Amino acid sequence: MGKICYSLLLMILLLGCNNTKQQAVPDQEITKNKIQSPFKLSIDRGAVVYKNLCSQCHRPNGKGIANNYPPLAGSNWLTQKRLKSIRAVKYGLKGAIVVNQKQYDGLMSPMGLSNMQVADVMNFTMNSWGNKQKEMVTPNEVASVKK
Ligand code: HEC
Repeated sequence: MGKICYSLLLMILLLGCNNTKQQAVPDQEITKNKIQSPFKLSIDRGAVVYKNLCSQCHRPNGKGIANNYPPLAGSNWLTQKRLKSIRAVKYGLKGAIVVNQKQYDGLMSPMGLSNMQVADVMNFTMNSWGNKQKEMVTPNEVASVKK
């Protein structure tokens, strides 16, 4: 009787040890996947596009230049007009628009970006300087936006 109790106890202890080991591995993998998610990678690539092609007008801080270049940081245009924003970056934009109650009447030329680069730079601008947009822009979504 004592022997059976002892081996049962041993089994429970061993099983207990195994369980903790098995739980530790998936936890680490989940953290790793989060850091390298496609969304995060797209935002990182978009930061490079932004620096090279957008920051001279919209500025590195996304605030634009008063009366000439509208802001992207906190821009209600960018937040409320998702498809129009994609179209503007893909094909260019001109004529009067109102951003955060201020009127701009300028010209943004098309920059010849691929659908992938447009998606990346949109994901960056929509998730920088306090902007937050959970739904990722994909190259397919950009491809579906026509002139
Ligand atoms: C040569 C200057 C210039 C460059 C470079 C430029 N923009 Fe613009 N952008 C403008 C102007 C000017 C407007 C407003 C056009 C109008 O008045 O119709 C604008 C408007 C916008 C808008 C819509 C309005 C708003 O503020 O939300 C978005 C979004 C935008 N730009 C994103 C970008 C992105 C992303 C890039 C880089 C890929 C870029 N722009 C590069 C000048 C520029």
